[in-house]
Amino acid sequence: MSNHPLGPIRVGLLGIGTVGSGVFTVLQRNQGEIRGRAGRGIDVTVVADLDVARAKALVGEQVKVVNDARAVIADPQVDIVVELIGGYGIAKQLVLEAIAAGKHVVTANKALLAVHGTEIFAAAQNKGVMVAFEAAVAGGIPIIKALREGLSANRIDWIAGIINGTTNFILSEMRDKGLGFDAVLKEAQRLGYAEADPTFDIEGVDAAHKATLMSAIAFGIAVQFDKAHVEGITRLEAQDIRYAEQLGYRIKLLGITKRAAQGVELRVHPCLVPVKRLIANVEGAMNAVMVQGDAVGTTLYYGKGAGSEPTASAVIADLVDVARLPTVDPLNRVPHLAFQPGAMSALPVLPMSQVCTSYYLRLRVADEAGVLARVTGILADAGISIDAVLQREADEVGGEGSNQTDLIILTHDCVEARMNEAMAKMQSLSSVLAPITRIRKEDLA
Ligand code: HSE
Repeated sequence: MSNHPLGPIRVGLLGIGTVGSGVFTVLQRNQGEIRGRAGRGIDVTVVADLDVARAKALVGEQVKVVNDARAVIADPQVDIVVELIGGYGIAKQLVLEAIAAGKHVVTANKALLAVHGTEIFAAAQNKGVMVAFEAAVAGGIPIIKALREGLSANRIDWIAGIINGTTNFILSEMRDKGLGFDAVLKEAQRLGYAEADPTFDIEGVDAAHKATLMSAIAFGIAVQFDKAHVEGITRLEAQDIRYAEQLGYRIKLLGITKRAAQGVELRVHPCLVPVKRLIANVEGAMNAVMVQGDAVGTTLYYGKGAGSEPTASAVIADLVDVARLPTVDPLNRVPHLAFQPGAMSALPVLPMSQVCTSYYLRLRVADEAGVLARVTGILADAGISIDAVLQREADEVGGEGSNQTDLIILTHDCVEARMNEAMAKMQSLSSVLAPITRIRKEDLA
């Protein structure tokens, strides 16, 4: 095994922070098994990091440490560049330069690929190198491999995933402790679960990057982050989590991509999910992805979506794949986005107004005769069918003697444009006293 004609494959790491150090540690610890699977050794030969002293302390004397990423790309002792810098700034230039230098690239950078994937994959295709990105979606869960290879017999119908651990942790805490979003976010930051700047997580951007990549692979469309509908959890209120629970649902931030008659849905938003679904019970910082294929039915993938060794697990799986590439004719490799470049689909990503889903509505209303009839009349006129209605006692909502109450309505599926029109009409009723809360609902059946 150790006598592979090409010798060990040589890796240059760009960045040795949380994930990079995990990659280094796991490669060392499991080197026998990894070599047994790859057919050759995988050696980290050079590391670039701005903090050279800290990097040297991590990797020891055997590995060269530099503070210039371009020195890694130019190094003839490097076959694969592992980009762990993140973001779409310098990381983009470095990835393109590595490709131009004929190096394979392994990256965990979902933002970069979701926004610039078309350019990057085309450059890699032209140069005959691989850009592998298992670690970019759901950390240690091998969802890219599953979608791209394990499910390649299927016509994928939909994917729905909890693909951001920070927001899932916050939602779990809001539900468990009955607290509001702001209080839980502060606590999550104090405990180190949420970044000091958690914007990408809590606004749904990180999940949308990941959903965009899964959508491209599932449906053979180009990566189109700019077409994704992105909505985070910052406006969620504890009372909606409570009402949802009373109706048999949990609220999760889902990344959803679905094949529809006219195109592909691509959206991230809070979502009611029936509590009886396994995915509704994914708590804390864990991730889970459901994939529905026409042949396989519904499948579910669960695990850690972040962290040093879980993410390293995905990076190293890509390294093993790349280590085997020299024996594969470039025309017979697994394509970056699952479909051969000439077999990509032109299906459009649908605007949110054309998305079809069901809804949870909460209306703060005057507790007086005829309100329910007026509200349900508007829904009936719009052809929107009601699934369930819950009305709280006024005293419970507004305190003793209150003449306001909450009306909660679950609907069946309808097109979002129609719901928007109905909501505008309901909002203009004088007995509707506050902005209507609307949360989408998915049965994931
Ligand atoms: N910040 C992400 C999360 C992990 O909270 O899941 C990296 O994508």
